Amino acid sequence: MDLVAPSIPAPAEADIDALVRELIGRMTLAEKVGQLQQVAGNSGQISDSLAQAVRTGAVGSIINEVDVDTVNRLQQMAVDESQLGIPLLFGRDVIHGFETVLPIPLGLSCSWDPDLLQRGARMSAVEAASSGVRWTFAPMVDIGRDPRWGRVAECLGEDPYLSGVLAAALVRGFQGDDLSSASSIAACAKHFAGYGASEGGRDYNTTHIPEGELRSVHLPPFKAALDAGVATFMASFSDLNGIPASANRFLMTDVLRREWGFDGFVVSDWESISQLRVHGLTGSDRESAAAAIEAGIDMEMESSTYRAHVEELVASGLIDEETIDAMVANVLRVKARLGLFERPFTDPAAFSSRGNADHLQLAREAAVRSAVLLKNDGDLLPLNRERLRRVAVIGPMADEPQEQLGTWVFDGNPQLSQTPLDALLELESQGLMLDVVRGLELTRDEGEAGFEAAEAAARAADVALLFVGEEAVLSGEAHCRADLRLPGAQEALIRRVRATGTPVVVVLMSGRALALDGIIDDIDALLCLWHPGTMAGPAAIDLLFGNETPSGKLTTTFPRVTGQVPIYYGQRNTGRPPTPETYVHMRDLPRGASQLSTGNTSYHLDTHYTPLFPFGFGLSYTSFAYSQLTCDTPEVSRHDDICVRVTVRNTGSRTGTEVVQLYTRDPVASVTRPVRELKRFMRVTLDPGASQEIEFRLPVYDLCFPGRDMKMTIEPGVIELWVGGNSQASLGTTLTIVS
Ligand code: BGC
Repeated sequence: MDLVAPSIPAPAEADIDALVRELIGRMTLAEKVGQLQQVAGNSGQISDSLAQAVRTGAVGSIINEVDVDTVNRLQQMAVDESQLGIPLLFGRDVIHGFETVLPIPLGLSCSWDPDLLQRGARMSAVEAASSGVRWTFAPMVDIGRDPRWGRVAECLGEDPYLSGVLAAALVRGFQGDDLSSASSIAACAKHFAGYGASEGGRDYNTTHIPEGELRSVHLPPFKAALDAGVATFMASFSDLNGIPASANRFLMTDVLRREWGFDGFVVSDWESISQLRVHGLTGSDRESAAAAIEAGIDMEMESSTYRAHVEELVASGLIDEETIDAMVANVLRVKARLGLFERPFTDPAAFSSRGNADHLQLAREAAVRSAVLLKNDGDLLPLNRERLRRVAVIGPMADEPQEQLGTWVFDGNPQLSQTPLDALLELESQGLMLDVVRGLELTRDEGEAGFEAAEAAARAADVALLFVGEEAVLSGEAHCRADLRLPGAQEALIRRVRATGTPVVVVLMSGRALALDGIIDDIDALLCLWHPGTMAGPAAIDLLFGNETPSGKLTTTFPRVTGQVPIYYGQRNTGRPPTPETYVHMRDLPRGASQLSTGNTSYHLDTHYTPLFPFGFGLSYTSFAYSQLTCDTPEVSRHDDICVRVTVRNTGSRTGTEVVQLYTRDPVASVTRPVRELKRFMRVTLDPGASQEIEFRLPVYDLCFPGRDMKMTIEPGVIELWVGGNSQASLGTTLTIVS
């Protein structure tokens, strides 16, 4: 796709090994250390010190240089002017697009569509590679179960299985069929591992994750990325059980290299090696370098403890030179697999233009499929274009070409952006009357000065469309929130509009799940677009007016209130799970209620125990019914396959796509298991009245879990299964694992 350059033959692994050995044999220790050092570029400038470092082989990789002429000039210094001629590897955070921006990864995951994510990553790779970038720091596969953490925007949701399937698709998309193709970029599974469990949802914070939980929740998506051939891994900033990831030998060597057999390279995160001292693990940069090397971090991003100390560490006998050789080999192997030795330079003319019509079309499709319809009272949506005379367009997010792109869009081009207002103005030219009022300048503004105009516009309109949410800067790295309600006075704005009696459609653009309990009753229809990227406008209008039918399903639970967090579908049952019978809200407690009168089960007194919207949930403009759930064999042994069938019928009046989800539970196990675990899913498109029998086949092995000895185990007994359109599906059956 999109590449017109002739390809080179993929280098053979045996040749790569020989090349790597031969090079290492000729390298000085200083040159070896150079291959382990990544430094930042300077947006089209080459400083004397950078030029000198490249010419002397003191740097192996450059991050954040995307000016193709500069990339080629630096590459020429490395290839033609350094002693060994080893090409540089240029890396960049290509997270959800390059110039053309797709929805944030959390949004993309709500499509439950691996093929879409693969195509999106391919598009991103092509655009990035045209500027000389051959390595992206994606996919981010941390499990995000706490929406206070700003980086949930970058992850693929709360579920390990779904994250793994989608991570693999992203790896295939970035890396293409052949890593040595000029349009392929090496992917990087990050942040290894456990970063998503940052305490309190505060970025960079400590994590405490028992090994069983690590192995069943946090590691599986990394393993899926590895199985898809991911070329590199990145260590997390975070401290895992007292040993920061960048010095964590259990993660980097025992699991990644020994158990999983990874043979690419591991990069630190930005200065995460020098930060080992700040964590309180080491007393100096020298000790930090030694700790990271011993753990298995091959390349150092930005800080330079390796450059400063490795030669001395080797000379003093603290680190073997063979260890350094193995690290260098890991790096050179990836460079060779990328074909950089054969084709170090980038010819931008060999690529189609960035932001071309095909890419915009893909961005539009992705924004449509990532959208989740959360509420639609009285079938207010889709809006009927013929019957609408006047529409009030209200809110701070209706016309924000940059904000709609979301976080991590260094190269995103806001000039390509089509906003919802742009798309609505096209309808105006076809006769629809629009009143456009921001109401609030920014999502976080508190002032209500603009409310009167919003109210007046709403009063005169047939429907009020409110574009609210969060600016891009309110999510992403280091952008965490302690209060998950709509920021600023947005709730008050919605209430004022609602008071006019005009139907209220809220289009939500955010980087995370929000706590909407306090406002949901004032909203008739709620369409969640996340930060939808370049094509937010056409996608929103297609969905609102029914040219497209929503099909996205939540991959992150929406809490009612912030205090419920973490709340996710795969929780454990506890010994005292809440039930309708044992639950009582504090407003219903009589005066002088006794300590024992609240049922003594696991819930908060000031909210319900369920989330506002569960994992897997999403409405459509049609409806689906499930029936005839069966297991082919009610008894299986651990080496068998399970075959589950279910019939899904479109019971509405429009063609629609349903994401059919299979969940299981192991109700009695030597280590307690979650109340539900997603095991398979399938997108199915059905015409009105049509039905289809869906078959899910999975090996019993997929029900394994880490036992008390941390070995994967499966125990005889009953397994419960459910199939349906969200994680609260009620159509269930059981099967038994014998022996
Ligand atoms: C982030 C990484 C990112 C790196 C390079 C760090 O701050 O944690 O995810 O890839 O910067 O930009």
